[in-house]
Amino acid sequence: HNKLKPFPANFFWGGSTSAYQIEGAWNEDGKGPSVIDMAKYPEGTADFKVASDHYHHYKEDIALLAEMGFKAYRFSIAWTRIYPNGSGEVNQKGIDFYNNLINEIVSHGIEPIVTMYHFDLPYALQQKGGWSNRETIDAFEIYAQTLFENFGDRVNYWLTINEQNMMILHGDAIGTVDPNLENPKKELYQQNHHMLVAQAKAMNLCHQLIPNAKIGPAPNIVSIYPASSKPEDIMAAYNYSAIRNWLYLDMAVFGRYNTTAWNYFEEKGYVPTILDFDMEVLASAKPDFIAFNYYTSQTVAASEGDGSDIGHTGDQHITVGEPGVYKGANNPNLKKNEFGWEIDPVGFRNTLREIYDRYNLPLIITENGLGAFDKLEEGEIVNDPYRIEFLRKHIEQMQLAITDGVEVFGFCPWSAIDLISTHQGCSKRYGFIFVNRDEFDLKDLRRIRKQSFYWYKELIATNGEKI
Ligand code: BG6
Repeated sequence: HNKLKPFPANFFWGGSTSAYQIEGAWNEDGKGPSVIDMAKYPEGTADFKVASDHYHHYKEDIALLAEMGFKAYRFSIAWTRIYPNGSGEVNQKGIDFYNNLINEIVSHGIEPIVTMYHFDLPYALQQKGGWSNRETIDAFEIYAQTLFENFGDRVNYWLTINEQNMMILHGDAIGTVDPNLENPKKELYQQNHHMLVAQAKAMNLCHQLIPNAKIGPAPNIVSIYPASSKPEDIMAAYNYSAIRNWLYLDMAVFGRYNTTAWNYFEEKGYVPTILDFDMEVLASAKPDFIAFNYYTSQTVAASEGDGSDIGHTGDQHITVGEPGVYKGANNPNLKKNEFGWEIDPVGFRNTLREIYDRYNLPLIITENGLGAFDKLEEGEIVNDPYRIEFLRKHIEQMQLAITDGVEVFGFCPWSAIDLISTHQGCSKRYGFIFVNRDEFDLKDLRRIRKQSFYWYKELIATNGEKI
C-alpha cells in the first residue's frame, strides 16, 4: 500500500485477562470451585488460588489500566462466583464483586468487554457430566440471563465462550473429557454441540434482554498453511481449517455445520446426537461481531495415514495431527519464541482478511501477545523490548489489514497485567504490568509498570500513530 489507513476513531485499544488466571480468592465470598480449582497442576508451577490477587487489588489494577489510556478492558466473569454450584442459588457477593469491578472500569471511561465463560466450568456441573449433559446448556442460559439482567445496563460488549475450539481440539489438556473413554473425540464433539447450542441461546437472550448490547463468539482463529504447494498438503490445510476454525464460526454466524467438518465426523464416527429443535435454535442466533485470539499461525502437511501424523504445529507444546486428515508440521520460515511458539505477524494480517472475507462481520482481537520470563531489576525496572517488538509487528500488520479493507474495532492483547498461564505457571508472563510474585513465593504482589506499559500508553494516546 502507498498509504496506510489510520485506526478508526474510538478504536478499542485495551487488554485482556480471565477470571481464574488473575483474580485469586478462589474460595472467598461464597465462590464455588471450578474445574480449574479441582485440577492437578503441572509440577513446579503455581496453582490459581491466589493468582495475581486481582480480587483484592482490582481498584489499583483498573487505575493502572486507565493510566495506560485503555479504551476497553476484556475480562471474564467466574461462573462459580455467580452460581457456586453452576445453577440454583445466586451468590449475591459474586454479583457485588462484579458490580464494583464494572463500576470501577466504567468510572474511568473504559468500555468493559465481558467473557461469560473462560475455561472455568463450575465443578458441580462437571460432576453431573459437564458439557456432556444437556442440563449444562440450561445452566448456561440461566447464568447468561443473570449476567444480562445484572450487568447489561453497563456492559455493551459480550463474548460467549473463550476458545471453545481449543477446549474441544485439546480436550484432554484443557477440556473436560475423560481421555480414557473408548471414543473421547466423539464425546468431545457431543460437548461441542451442546456448547454451540448454549452459545446460540445466550446470543438470542442477549438480543432480547439488552437490545443495544452486542455479543459474539471468541474462538482462537489462525491461518493454516500447507507445508508445501503439493495439492495433498493444500487439501490437508483445507481439512484442518475446517475442523479447527470454520466449524466454530460457520455455526456461530450461519447456524450450520461446516460440510468438511461434518463429513469428518461421519468418517471418524464423531457425529453428535442432535435434538429436534437444536438446528432451529442454532440457525436463529446471529452474532454482532467476531472476536478472536491469535498467537501463531499453523502449518500442516498431507496425512500419511498413521501415527507419524501426530506432531506439532505453531505452538510446539501442543500435539496435533490426525491420521487420514492432516499431519502437524513446522514452518521453517518462522522464528519461535522461548516457549516454542512460532511468531507470525504477517499471518495475523492473513487471518484478519480470511475471517472478514468469509463472514463480513466487524472483528476484534481479544488476545495476542508474548509470554516471556521478565526480570524485575533494581529501581523498579522491567525491560521487555521483546514484547514491544512482538506487539508492534502485530499492530503494524493489523493496520495493513485495515488498509486492505478489514473492519477491525479493537485490539485487546494478552495480557493487561501479569497472571498465571494456563499450564506454565506465573513465570511465563504476558502483562504490561509486572506482578511481584514467584511460583510459590507470593512476596508482596506489588504492581510495577513494565517498559511496554509506557510504550503502549503512548501508542494509545496517538491512536496507533506512534508505534
Ligand atoms: C489462550 C487462552 O489460549 O492463550 C488464555 O485464552 C491463555 O487463557 C493464553 O493464558 C496464553 O496461553 P498460555 O498457555 O501461555 O497461558
